[in-house]
Amino acid sequence: MKFLQVLLICAELLAIPLLSAAISSPDEACPSGYGNCDAKLKPPRREVYENGEIFDITHKFTPHTPVGISNEGIGQFLRLLRSMKNGSDYNFSEIRLPAHAGTHVDAPGHFYDNYFDLGFDVDTLDLRVLNGPALLVDVPRDKNITAEVMKSLNIPKGVRRVLFRTLNTDRRLMYKKEFDTSFVGFMKDGAQWLVDNTDIKLVGTDYLSVAAFVDATPAHLVFLESREIILVEGLKLEDVEAGLYSVHCLPLRLVGAEGSPIRCILIN
Ligand SMILES: *[C@@H]1O[C@H](CO)[C@@H](O)[C@H](O)[C@H]1NC(C)=O
Ligand SMILES: *[C@@H]1O[C@H](CO)[C@@H](O)[C@H](O)[C@H]1NC(C)=O
Ligand SMILES: *[C@@H]1O[C@H](CO)[C@@H](O)[C@H](O)[C@H]1NC(C)=O
Repeated sequence: MKFLQVLLICAELLAIPLLSAAISSPDEACPSGYGNCDAKLKPPRREVYENGEIFDITHKFTPHTPVGISNEGIGQFLRLLRSMKNGSDYNFSEIRLPAHAGTHVDAPGHFYDNYFDLGFDVDTLDLRVLNGPALLVDVPRDKNITAEVMKSLNIPKGVRRVLFRTLNTDRRLMYKKEFDTSFVGFMKDGAQWLVDNTDIKLVGTDYLSVAAFVDATPAHLVFLESREIILVEGLKLEDVEAGLYSVHCLPLRLVGAEGSPIRCILIN
């Protein structure tokens, strides 16, 4: 048993350098500043990993990523401070992002000024709420999320994390740079029903706000008042079957920020 373990560890230690040597072995003709200079190298971009083992439910950031306070998208969010094309040994970019664009999380300070002042920022969000078993459910496509709709979903007691897929996904709203106020979200009474009748602490939806535009403020206030419910917005929920997964969401530790980009994945 011991021997086998040692063997396995050795194999692992050996495999890493061998593998990386195979991947990055530089072409003889590469000029300095290049690794492997095969012009056809293609970086992997995955939405789903092999056999649906992992689903990436985070939207990519691009200049067209929508943001709720503009119709132009986030625009140029990356800028090179040092550039190899300009003689630097390395590329070094700066990121400028709205805290509530693309797939992101809200902290209690987003709608409560006193919580903001007291420091209830994204760094204080509970990782145990943001990670764990989660239900992905389909919301009837012809309604916003009212108390009646919440009731009809029959989400069992004990379920602590729910991702709500709505008409927003079908309409591909997150792929449009214009902010579309006709998106589906929670009405105040739907938010109140969830708070009063379920154990849900992680609420995820598929557009920039969990709350419908007409009820944006009251529904957010209902959700965020207890500081126990975490709102994840702008999730990428297409091409994933409804059902039970393990969700993993990690915001950035932005001290003082009432919102943050968040990376979320579902593991099957
Ligand atoms: C480095 O920056 C240049 C722009 O100066 C860009 O064209 C190039 O793709 C960057 N290289 C990498 C590896 O990102
Ligand atoms: C490189 O430098 C030139 C001149 O300072 C500037 O106009 C250009 O924007 C720079 N390019 C990058 C990619 O930094
Ligand atoms: C949801 O509410 C918005 C207003 O916030 C409205 O424009 C939209 O039509 C409603 N959607 C549905 C499916 O009822």
